[in-house]
Amino acid sequence: TESQAVLFTIFGATGDLAKRKLYPSLFRLYKKGELADNFAVIGTARREWSDEFYRGVILDSIKDLMRSKTEAEAFASHFYYQSHDVGDASHYITLKELGEKLKTQYKTLGNQVFFLAMAPQFFGTIAEHLKSEGILTGEGFERIVIEKPFGTSYATAKALNDSLAKVFTEEQIFRIDHYLGKEMIQAVSAVRFANPIFESLWDNQHIDNVQITFAEFIGVEDRGGYYETSGALKDMIQNHVLQVLSLIAMEKPSKFDEAHIVEQKVKALKAIRQYSPSEALENFVRGQYISGKFDGEAYKAYREEDSVSPDSQTETFAAGKFVIDNERWAGVPFYVRSGKRMTEKGTRINIVFKKSEDNLFAGSCDEPVQNVLTIYIQPTEGFSLSVNGKAAGQGFHLDPLRLSFRHDSEFLGNSPEAYEKLFLDVLKGDGTNFSHWEEAARAWELIDVVRNAWDEQTSALPTYTARSMGPKEAFDLLARDGREWTWQP
Ligand code: BG6
Repeated sequence: TESQAVLFTIFGATGDLAKRKLYPSLFRLYKKGELADNFAVIGTARREWSDEFYRGVILDSIKDLMRSKTEAEAFASHFYYQSHDVGDASHYITLKELGEKLKTQYKTLGNQVFFLAMAPQFFGTIAEHLKSEGILTGEGFERIVIEKPFGTSYATAKALNDSLAKVFTEEQIFRIDHYLGKEMIQAVSAVRFANPIFESLWDNQHIDNVQITFAEFIGVEDRGGYYETSGALKDMIQNHVLQVLSLIAMEKPSKFDEAHIVEQKVKALKAIRQYSPSEALENFVRGQYISGKFDGEAYKAYREEDSVSPDSQTETFAAGKFVIDNERWAGVPFYVRSGKRMTEKGTRINIVFKKSEDNLFAGSCDEPVQNVLTIYIQPTEGFSLSVNGKAAGQGFHLDPLRLSFRHDSEFLGNSPEAYEKLFLDVLKGDGTNFSHWEEAARAWELIDVVRNAWDEQTSALPTYTARSMGPKEAFDLLARDGREWTWQP
């Protein structure tokens, strides 16, 4: 591969996200030769750090990935630190001077990528200063990468987007949704569009319902401060879950590229029924975990976690039913759920096919199982399809069995991390696996009504025991439609 010439500027360089995700991903790209001699990184944050100290932090963040000390140090030597106050115009002048020096030194050709790994309230200010202080010159490509959360409601997301749009075009903005970098999320389109047997069945004639589960084993950990302002609905459903839903629901794009895929995803999101407040309450449920015991292990309640209010009303679990008003999906519910402190970590999509009305065996003691296509996103990656076979031996009895494929652990160990894939996409200018404004905007419209309806509610928040699959209400949601959550192990 030809390595990329580029200058990165990271806002929030001392933060956790930069250390956990950004630096290791850049190092992986370096090891693969995607980045080599012609890149440099300016890390900025308020703290006063020396280049030397910063490089020590970089080395520490990649210690599990390095093959030799020499290689790691060579990588770290491309990093420079500049203390920076995002609201102070004069600091951007210093930044510009350093950037120009590095551009010449590393021959970065004026290509620039800005990473905003910090609180969204600063995004607008940073963008404006990059323009007004002349850091953006238009010489090479100029792209900006931003982390979630993209707003906290439609109104705040729109304000944020307007402030970015004054400086950057939509093509220059890369909104990270790290689920879109995951192998098996990207594989959804392969399953759908490369297999006529599935493509031909992908509609309301054949599919009974779709279930998307994003279960987490972990609790809120040390993110109580952020999570209290968010909750499961905004933290997972608004972004990751709706992104996945749109990939499953979209019509076939006429070309497999960013513009055509995004066009179809947006159409699918727009076809999701916009609930009234009372419909939102009927079709969405929330819950908060209380203390529980599992396998001899005790788990504390959400309200006892660090930085969480003892009478917190924040939901740590959300489930809902979306319906899509178009020809393909009329009558097919999309059930979604996500929560913390659930039984296990398990991210799965279940496509539950219809029972056949005139099945030869229906009503007999050997009721056939429903065909279910499961896409395992994590922790294992693969697919399974449940089908009916015949029980071996004399007589005739049905025997449910599962055709199953899982990537092996060697594959999993070597496959690129979501962030690494996404960063390479940024360098190549491919925004396919990023969230676009129209997608985020529509997702907020759908989520706002649920959030606002919950905020109006005075009844007590439903609870669920830590290490369970959520509150009773989440099971009732399907039971009242005569269905249940399937959990293909
Ligand atoms: C993040 C959420 O976007 O996704 C976290 O803010 C959540 O609360 C995380 O834990 C889950 O991501 P993954 O990749 O571990 O499934």
